[in-house]
Amino acid sequence: MTPGVRPFVAGNWKMNGLSASLGEIEAMRRAADAGEAGEAELAVCPPATLLAQAAWKIRGGKLSLGAQDCHPEPSGAFTGDISAPMLKDAGATYVIVGHSERRTLHHETDALVRAKAEAALKAGLTAIVCVGETKEERQAGDAIAVVTRQLKGSLPPGGGPDSVVVSYEPVWAIGTGLTPTPKDVTEMHGAIRTLLGEIYGPGGSKLRILYGGSVKPGNCRDLLTLDNVDGALIGGASLKAAEFLAIAAAYR
Ligand code: PGA
Repeated sequence: MTPGVRPFVAGNWKMNGLSASLGEIEAMRRAADAGEAGEAELAVCPPATLLAQAAWKIRGGKLSLGAQDCHPEPSGAFTGDISAPMLKDAGATYVIVGHSERRTLHHETDALVRAKAEAALKAGLTAIVCVGETKEERQAGDAIAVVTRQLKGSLPPGGGPDSVVVSYEPVWAIGTGLTPTPKDVTEMHGAIRTLLGEIYGPGGSKLRILYGGSVKPGNCRDLLTLDNVDGALIGGASLKAAEFLAIAAAYR
């Protein structure tokens, strides 16, 4: 945790969820409104198809809504893509950019991720910028160098604590049940904090730095209370409100 920084716990549903899943979002909203996550802000990032309906379910409440990706352009001939202003219009306040599944499966580069983050800021969304090393990169001792390079290439200019969130997600920890040691997480988040200061100046000390990758109710307390860990981005364990809220309860 970082003194003076409000923790943030976000669920990334990935390509999961039909309208039948909206009940989970309603349960998250009730918990957020009841303060079940203490001081922490809660957000859910369902697939784009559910955004507008989810926005309706959470209106007037304390649960925040995010999307999982956006196009760098605000509109145009880009069949199948969704722009940041469209996400904002549908009710989102956050958008994840540069998730490793997009970097890998859609060959997204740091430059593209930065363009998406810039588009998000322009639309009034907060960008959750994801970075993280592969297993090979960690084994070669390059984890911090890789994440530093990704951040330098992906963070939008002019960002600050209200417009940018960083999520450190080691690729090898996503969906595998594996997590880095508390020492490795502390070391990485400390390096990210230093870099954020270099890039954004004093505002960098207040930016939220999330950890993501196999966060579960059983390991959340160990991970989420470390220095410079200001919350979590949760995949699989965010699909059910009960599991998601059991993790967020680490901040109660
Ligand atoms: P996981 O995914 O919690 O299922 O490991 C995290 C993520 O990809 O954001």
